[in-house]
This record gives sequence, C-alpha cells and structure tokens, in this order.
Amino acid sequence: MKALVYLGGGNKGIEDRPKPKIASPTDAIVKMVKTTICGTDLHILKGDVPTAAPGRILGHEGVGVVEEAGSAVTSFKPGDRVLISCITSCGKCEYCRRLMYSHCVDGGWILGNAIDGTQAEYVRIPHADTSLYHILDGEDETPFVLCSDIFPTSFECGVLNGEIAPGSSVAIVGAGPIGLATILTAQFYSPAEIIAIDVDDKRLAIAKAFGATHVINSSDGKAAKAVLEITGPRGVDTAIEAVGIPATFELCEEIVGPGGRIANVGVHGKVVALHLENLWARNVAITTRLVDTVSTPMLLKTIRAHKLDPARLITHRFSLADVMQAYETFSDAAKTGALKVMIEA
Ligand SMILES: NC(=O)c1ccc[n+]([C@@H]2O[C@H](COP(=O)([O-])OP(=O)(O)OC[C@H]3O[C@@H](n4cnc5c(N)ncnc54)[C@H](O)[C@@H]3O)[C@@H](O)[C@H]2O)c1
Ligand SMILES: [Zn+2]
Ligand SMILES: [Zn+2]
Repeated sequence: MKALVYLGGGNKGIEDRPKPKIASPTDAIVKMVKTTICGTDLHILKGDVPTAAPGRILGHEGVGVVEEAGSAVTSFKPGDRVLISCITSCGKCEYCRRLMYSHCVDGGWILGNAIDGTQAEYVRIPHADTSLYHILDGEDETPFVLCSDIFPTSFECGVLNGEIAPGSSVAIVGAGPIGLATILTAQFYSPAEIIAIDVDDKRLAIAKAFGATHVINSSDGKAAKAVLEITGPRGVDTAIEAVGIPATFELCEEIVGPGGRIANVGVHGKVVALHLENLWARNVAITTRLVDTVSTPMLLKTIRAHKLDPARLITHRFSLADVMQAYETFSDAAKTGALKVMIEA
C-alpha cells in the first residue's frame, strides 16, 4: 500500500509498505477513506516529537471502513464505516476509567507517533472497540474527519477546561484550526464576548464569520490593552491559549480577570514565564490538557443535529497520491490560506 512516511531530519516521502495485519485480538484494520494533516504532524517533521521515530507512517485523523476485525472486537465488523479517534484507549486501565484516555497505559496518542498512522491506504487500530466510532449509513463522512482530533481538542482543552459560561467573556489567542474550532464550540455556552486574537488578518476575518464578537491583530504588541478596552480593566473570564509559544501564554496571563481561567491548548516547546507576582491574588486557575476525546460522542450528536458544522474548516482537497502537495499547501498556510486539507485515499 502507499503511505506517507516520516524519514527523519525534516524529510518525508511516499513509500510502498505492506498492508498492516491484526497483531492483537482487539485490533481492527481500517481501509482509509479520508484523512487530513495536523499542525502536530509538522511538529514531528521538525523533530519536536521524540516518540515519532523515522520510518513512521504519519497521521492521527480520519475516517474509513473496517476491513478486518480481531476476534475480541465486538462492536465493529468488516464493512462498518468508522471515525478513528486520535487517542487510542483500552477502556479498562485506571486512566481510561477516570476518562483520561489520553493517558491510557496501553494507548493515548500513539497513532502516527509511536505506531503507524492514518496517512496511508490502511491502518491498524488497537483497542478498536473503544477507539473507533460508527458513522451511520447514508451519512457524509467529511465533517467527521475533523472529530478525530481538532474538535474534541478545542472543546475539551479550551471550552470545557475554560469553563465558558453564559454571559461570560472569552479571549481566544490563536485563530488557527484549533482556535477557530474553539470559537464554534464556545458558542454552545452563549458567552457574551468572544475576542479572537491572531497576527493574520485573513484568519481573523474567518474568526469573525465563525462568531467572534471582536478581533484583535496582535502584531503591534498592544493586544492586552485592546482586550482590556473591550472588557474593562478587570479582563476576561476565560483566556484560551491556542498557539503554543511563550508570548501568547503570557498574553493570557495579562488579560485574565479575577476568578478567571487560563486554559492552555497549545503544545509548548520552550520555557514560559509564570507571572505569579501578578497572579497570586487574582484567584485564577490554569489548566493544561492533552485531548482525551471523551467528548467525541457528544460532538457527533451536535453534528447530526446540525448544531455544528466542522466542514467549514476545510479549504483544500487532495488525493492520497498528492499528499506531498497537500503538506506543502498546509504548511504554507499564510500564503495559501489553508485551514484543514481533506485527503482522499
Ligand atoms: N493539547 C492538545 O491536545 C493539542 C491537540 C492538537 C493541537 N494542539 C496544539 O494547539 C495549537 C494550535 O493548533 P493549530 O492547528 O490551530 O495551529 P496553527 O499553527 O495552525 O495556528 C496557530 C495560529 O496562531 C497564530 N499566531 C502565531 N503567532 C502568534 C502570536 N504571536 N500572537 C497571536 N497569534 C499568533 C497563527 O497566525 C495561527 O493562526 C498548536 O500548538 C497545536 O500543536 C494541542
Ligand atoms: Zn493533531
Ligand atoms: Zn486505558
């Protein structure tokens, strides 16, 4: 089969690989239908993720059809259309029982990282019963591709951890796919203000169209002042960090109000300053989270009920044969305007 492989040292290529086989009775083999690329795949290519070794097939998102199910798989059979969660969960370990699938002792984020991923014609999914979701007959699978990772991430790490409440004020720093999905799912809770902050005016325009009440271009270094002009000097109830660099986390520290929350979503690779000299008396909470994908069943219901349309984030379409071009388009988002690229196997 054809697969997109991380070759180490920033390189990737399309390779011919043997079709994966069932390795444990709880595995399923899924024939991929659609997949996509995540910012985290770019982190792997940069060498930021040491668990992803050269030779790894990338990808942790997608939908497909069950080709073969192991003898212990009871909820899925060949021919079933499925959504693949980016998080593999055994459903039985201490962390799974505490609904922290991301820390499953025999799973977590392993797809396209510690084991081969979804940017291929076939993928092996361990713990299939608890790591796959059914797509119903006749349903368009396209919006579900965005439920493998970015919608649960935005909702769990941003909206839920940020405890967004009706009438509250929210600032979302970063209007990439994650920040935009946060804007969409924040609206389940009717906050009064959603302030989107980015350095890219094109993305801010999309943020506005997706429901941000205010947008701020932070390139001039004056974003904190602009936020406090909107909220008053107290600041926001929830500040969500959706970039993953020190400057944007520190901006959240500057704009969070008394009793507020900073919900970190971004993947950080550098030391970030924690200004306790300003925050110690502000009754704030800071949360971090690796997406657990525990909200996936609820998100699927909102999509089926037409309350949420993840497909609004899809900007480009490619076939698996053109996956190299898909990477180029995705990684040059400032020029191409790419948000999520859909890749058809
Ligand atoms: N916690 C998790 O489980 C989890 C899961 C998936 C992704 N992530 C992380 O979430 C973050 C966001 O993901 P994404 O796919 O939207 O990333 P992205 O790189 O596409 O988007 C980041 C956005 O931040 C903006 N930006 C860059 N520098 C900025 C600055 N100084 N001030 C304001 N905005 C700035 C960019 O213009 C861009 O729109 C990444 O760090 C990603 O790795 C975390
Ligand atoms: Zn991802
Ligand atoms: Zn587990």
